[in-house]
Amino acid sequence: MQSLHKIATTQTLINLVLVSSSFCAIYILVSVVLLGTPSKLENLHSSSHNVYESKTTTTLDHLVFGIASSRSSWPKRKEYVKLWWNTIRNTTMRGCVFVDTLPQDKDNNNNASTLPPLCVSQDTSRFRYTYSGWGGGMRSAIRVARVVKETVARMNHSHIRWYVFGDDDTLFFPQNVVKTLCKYDHRLWYYVGANSESYKQTWFFGFGMGFGGAGFAISSSLATVLVKVFDSCIERYPELYGSDARVYACITELGVGLTHEPGFHQVDLRGNAFGLLAAHPLTPLLSLHHLDNIDPIFPNMTIIKALQHLYEAAKVDSQRLLQQTVCYDKRLSWTISVSWGYAAQVFHNHLSLPDVVRVQKTFKHWTRGTALADQFTFDTKELHTDPCRRPTIFYLENLSRGEDGIIISNYRKSIQNCSSNVAPEVIRVASSKLELGIKQLLAQRRHCCDVLPSSVSDQMEIAIRECKEDELISMQ
Ligand SMILES: *[C@@H]1O[C@H](CO)[C@@H](O)[C@H](O)[C@H]1NC(C)=O
Ligand SMILES: *[C@@H]1O[C@H](CO)[C@@H](O)[C@H](O)[C@H]1NC(C)=O
Ligand SMILES: *[C@@H]1O[C@H](CO)[C@@H](O)[C@H](O)[C@H]1NC(C)=O
Ligand SMILES: *[C@@H]1O[C@H](CO)[C@@H](O)[C@H](O)[C@H]1NC(C)=O
Ligand SMILES: *[C@@H]1O[C@H](CO)[C@@H](O)[C@H](O)[C@H]1NC(C)=O
Ligand SMILES: *[C@@H]1O[C@H](CO)[C@@H](O)[C@H](O)[C@H]1NC(C)=O
Repeated sequence: MQSLHKIATTQTLINLVLVSSSFCAIYILVSVVLLGTPSKLENLHSSSHNVYESKTTTTLDHLVFGIASSRSSWPKRKEYVKLWWNTIRNTTMRGCVFVDTLPQDKDNNNNASTLPPLCVSQDTSRFRYTYSGWGGGMRSAIRVARVVKETVARMNHSHIRWYVFGDDDTLFFPQNVVKTLCKYDHRLWYYVGANSESYKQTWFFGFGMGFGGAGFAISSSLATVLVKVFDSCIERYPELYGSDARVYACITELGVGLTHEPGFHQVDLRGNAFGLLAAHPLTPLLSLHHLDNIDPIFPNMTIIKALQHLYEAAKVDSQRLLQQTVCYDKRLSWTISVSWGYAAQVFHNHLSLPDVVRVQKTFKHWTRGTALADQFTFDTKELHTDPCRRPTIFYLENLSRGEDGIIISNYRKSIQNCSSNVAPEVIRVASSKLELGIKQLLAQRRHCCDVLPSSVSDQMEIAIRECKEDELISMQ
């Protein structure tokens, strides 16, 4: 009892030492300093805590993806997977797309350089499925839940640190997924994911569940244990609706909780997702889902074309994608918000930062009915009733990285709901490539920006930079 008490009250100081690499910071936790009189604990600590962490560099090679698909959805949905699979130079990704049976046009799926291989799921007819509530449910949920087990079972465990799961309409941003998983030690048990945007969905399925379409990650150490108990566990949950609920149930039975990463997006929304994409959380963008159910994210483009456009920005600076930076033009009393690589907004008045970072409700709710359906799991605000208080919206036109390393992204005026508001035609944004080290990933801080004098008429120029130590993002 006494030593347990001591362990609980012993303060440990852990120093982080950083060496950055191209994919993930190498982190070494060097010293564990015990305060107080640790004599009785010495042995315990020297064996398990003193060198708590060794050198680790997690790269995309350490990840394995398990993608849930089907014979009927794959021919169309593979266009989504092509957007992100093997698009990072010099890296070959690992994983499988799980289908019930092989699609007819099998040859079309065999190009290893642009798509993952297809794996046929095992038979799951022996498992019971009894869900009969809202929506009726589909027993394929069992097959999809077992993608977790089959992905792990088919792979050799060496050099795998994380298993990442998603649907065939989940768009991952792989470099950001790697960066984010670097924060966690894969040798410990982690279940990393996100809730739905819809309060009703989250309330119904559980705040502790990683929504499957958003994508979630399981550390290899947890995965190897999970697969051993998986079938016996899901037998006990025939009444659950989805695949993700089954995975959640079994991980919960192992005593593990969800580590929330708000960069995963289930996108349980309909209509125009602009508000969500224009006010992303500070953490990197990890995924987008349900692209069939929302309008194309750029106007005047098809769904796929619009996504290709977003991935052009991801190629130039993956980590900065959708990062929201806000600056103020004191002379004009404007508030300018940039969601890097996607859109810029000019509010023709002063808005405080806490107001600008609220998500504008440009979208509709996912499910019909009750007031609960129109509540969200993040801060929202209604569009202003006065069109002249709504922002003028500029969408990404193009971007490039110069030889000096400076990245220029141009945003062109597209939507203006008030003719009396004067706004430039183009907003030109200068930034440098965002390279978050482990410390910054653990404790991210928003960047600042300045409105620069522009030499070109009808163009506004903005430079993004790190904020000064005590700088406040405000009109001042
Ligand atoms: C990528 O591969 C090319 C050709 O194989 C090689 O020249 C280049 O150095 C590699 N780049 C990196 C960053 O490894
Ligand atoms: C696979 O895709 C790559 C890139 O699109 C293309 O260059 C190559 O010709 C394709 N290979 C086959 C066998 O279709
Ligand atoms: C796993 O390892 C075995 C033996 O080394 C090998 O035959 C097999 O192809 C490997 N499987 C995968 C998916 O890499
Ligand atoms: C990029 O966009 C800017 C502003 O919209 C435009 O002036 C420029 O010509 C474009 N550059 C390219 C290479 O298309
Ligand atoms: C869409 O394209 C049409 C025709 O090219 C153009 O007139 C319109 O301004 C565009 N709309 C937006 C929002 O860019
Ligand atoms: C705002 O303007 C866009 C086109 O510029 C138009 O499609 C949209 O309906 C307008 N919205 C409102 C609320 O007036």
